[in-house]
Amino acid sequence: MRSHLLNGLTAEHYRRSVTEGVERVAAKLATTDRPFTGVTVDALAPRIDAIDLDRPLGDTAAVLDELEDVYLRDAVYFHHPRYLAHLNCPVVIPAVLGEAVLAAVNSSLDTWDQSAGGTLIERRLIDWTAARIGLGPAADGVFTSGGTQSNLQALLLAREEAKSDNLAKLRIFASEAGHFSVRKSAKLLGLGPDAVVTVPVDHDKRMQTVALAHELERCERDGLIPMAVVATAGTTDFGSIDPLPEIAGLCAQYGVWMHVDAAYGCGLLASLRNRDRIDGIERADSVTVDYHKSFFQPVSSSAVLVRDAATLRHATYHAEYLNPRRMVAERIPNQVDKSLQTTRRFDALKLWLTLRTMGADGVGRLFDEVCDLAREGWRLLAADPRYDVVVEPALSTLVFRYIPAAVTDPAEIDRANLHARKALFASGNAVVAGTKVGGRHYLKFTLLNPETTTADLATVLDLIAGHAEQYLGESLDRAS
Ligand SMILES: Cc1ncc(COP(=O)(O)O)c(C=O)c1O
Repeated sequence: MRSHLLNGLTAEHYRRSVTEGVERVAAKLATTDRPFTGVTVDALAPRIDAIDLDRPLGDTAAVLDELEDVYLRDAVYFHHPRYLAHLNCPVVIPAVLGEAVLAAVNSSLDTWDQSAGGTLIERRLIDWTAARIGLGPAADGVFTSGGTQSNLQALLLAREEAKSDNLAKLRIFASEAGHFSVRKSAKLLGLGPDAVVTVPVDHDKRMQTVALAHELERCERDGLIPMAVVATAGTTDFGSIDPLPEIAGLCAQYGVWMHVDAAYGCGLLASLRNRDRIDGIERADSVTVDYHKSFFQPVSSSAVLVRDAATLRHATYHAEYLNPRRMVAERIPNQVDKSLQTTRRFDALKLWLTLRTMGADGVGRLFDEVCDLAREGWRLLAADPRYDVVVEPALSTLVFRYIPAAVTDPAEIDRANLHARKALFASGNAVVAGTKVGGRHYLKFTLLNPETTTADLATVLDLIAGHAEQYLGESLDRAS
């Protein structure tokens, strides 16, 4: 069994095993002609349930054959140009190389004595990101598992900075298009059920700052405590960017912590042409960035950044076995002092290798391309009488709804759109997402793949129309 332990004696076994795995994936990527096979839970679950986990196969080739059957064949492939659904990007090769290296060396970023250079590399990347945002000389931050955790940590710091013993009085302001992790965070942080005040959005799905001002004023009038405003730079559904300068002004006026959830929009930090869309982000107290959304990084790779490094102390605990207090005086850089996690992956390595190989401009170019594609997609949809499209994209998301010429009942149109999404997924020919707008069901393209073309979008729109029309035809038959 020791032959499976990775060490100096098994280096050759490691090389062969990993190469075999890489060969299989490379072959898969080269031959995959659809983002999904359309496999159903009922078809797949028995294959996975039938595996006897107490009877190992022992041999890499046999294990990979089995993996083909239970996973690789039917996986959802984000690299495919017609995967258009969620905020999952195709990944860049230097980052995948990083993933392989970090798994093998297996550094843990909680303490210096488990990571050495890993800690320093993460710190450089945090400083680099903070500088791109423009957070100033006292900024700091830490890598996290994702936007949900980054938002939670930012709001933890905001709660502590609010310095109130009465958690029931604290209020967080987020737009109706903000991410649900804000509400989840409020619950985890022990705030009251009314803690998150929903601010309406304008026609472009951006937070209405007049409404925000009104809510902040009301909060104070009612003797409540405004704890944080969460501005979203790239809403999940629409990619809309809240008016950051105006929100920053209100936060300054009311003395409120400004958090910018740039989980999606952070790709603009590397953009060569569209960086100005997130002007005002530099005035935030904290920022969430998800490199695994718009920096083409594999899951997971995210960070929370703060304007004032001192605020990270709210996440600091000392344990004698790990990071005793005296290490602070000894200036030993233990990242666990800033993190909600203890044992933590060296995700930063992926971004490091990405920047060292293709540079920030390379990442920014890719993100600019998907923003351009979204604009072309918008023009396509706006000119297509079969579709209603919601907002012009600020990033790379398009929300639209198939509108059949002969049907006026909105509930029937809802059903046709829901059916089209499901049927498309079952066919595996494309994967699109869905959401609700004004209580009605819409479909969504989240475009993060520069290989996707306008022709791909046109093809998928035709497929959607076909599925919707088929549903409506069958529905008419059922009724008659
Ligand atoms: C705006 C926004 N914030 C936060 C998140 C949560 O990020 P994660 O899925 O990495 O936890 C998302 C995810 O889609 C998001 O779109």
